[in-house]
Amino acid sequence: KTASIVGCPFSGGQPKVGVDKGPIHLVEAGLVQQLEGLGWKVNFDGHHQFEEISAKEDPVIGKLKNPRYVSKVSQEVAKAVGGHAKKGELPVTLGGDHSLAMGTISGTLDAHPNACVIWIDAHADINTAESTDSGNIHGMPVSFLLGLPQHSGSSQSDTHIQSTFSWIKPLLKPSRIVYIGLRDVDAGEKRILKQNGIKAFSMHEVDKYGIGKVVEMALDHVNPNRDLPIHLSFDVDALDPSVAPSTGTPVRGGLTFREGHYICEAVWETGLLVALDLMEVNPSLEDESSVRQTVAVGCSLVRSALGETLL
Ligand code: ARG
Ligand code: MN
Ligand code: MN
Ligand code: MN
Repeated sequence: KTASIVGCPFSGGQPKVGVDKGPIHLVEAGLVQQLEGLGWKVNFDGHHQFEEISAKEDPVIGKLKNPRYVSKVSQEVAKAVGGHAKKGELPVTLGGDHSLAMGTISGTLDAHPNACVIWIDAHADINTAESTDSGNIHGMPVSFLLGLPQHSGSSQSDTHIQSTFSWIKPLLKPSRIVYIGLRDVDAGEKRILKQNGIKAFSMHEVDKYGIGKVVEMALDHVNPNRDLPIHLSFDVDALDPSVAPSTGTPVRGGLTFREGHYICEAVWETGLLVALDLMEVNPSLEDESSVRQTVAVGCSLVRSALGETLL
């Protein structure tokens, strides 16, 4: 068994500097050796070097910020992830901001067209060009993967958005994604989730049923016969800020340390994991001990998803 680390020092999907340093910190904390300690052959040939497209060459389209840069980087990530997956390796993508999931999930679906997605996050990241307030594309990747219409107010920008992201094959079906951990969903996103019949377990359901039952219900929805490959996309801000403070959009009332790890352990136990993302670790936010804590919890989530057990 081989895991391939796809280090993505990228922050163009949101405005805070530092999230591009996430992958470097995770690897420097010893993630590669930790996975080797679990019996994995780890393939890590350095972090990706993305050629920057400066803000000047990349003006907003509609509200979307850094659209060309985000699109180009994600396209490269899709090739990397898809390439590893097709060789039978397990791609572990380290973000970087969550706009990268346009790339990781596109890569997974290229190699495994029937894959389902389990998206762990405080946020739904399903805004469209029409619904986004911030224009930050890390709040939008799911809408592109689903191929939702991107209306920005002028037909000229609509066409421009379409052409900028035209490499994305909208292969993800609304029935093949499920969320856990949501607690900061924009009004427009709530509408989109409802209209598309997308299943989501917010923190309310985690409180009500417990994480064990929630993960079971999530798998029953997206993978009823437990036979489809699973892409797990984990935004570290799903965890409570007391557990993972160093992230760009923290929201109180999140998953506990154990709840986060339980999800990873339970997905590993299915034997169906084909790709993992760990996103939004920002080592430039909060104090040194918060950074250490967030990086350590990031590594330990990855270990749990790759088979580390408590006994
Ligand atoms: N919904 C907000 C937005 O569209 C926040 C998104 C936060 N996303 C994230 N990947 N942390 O800007
Ligand atoms: Mn590689
Ligand atoms: Mn988030
Ligand atoms: Mn996210």
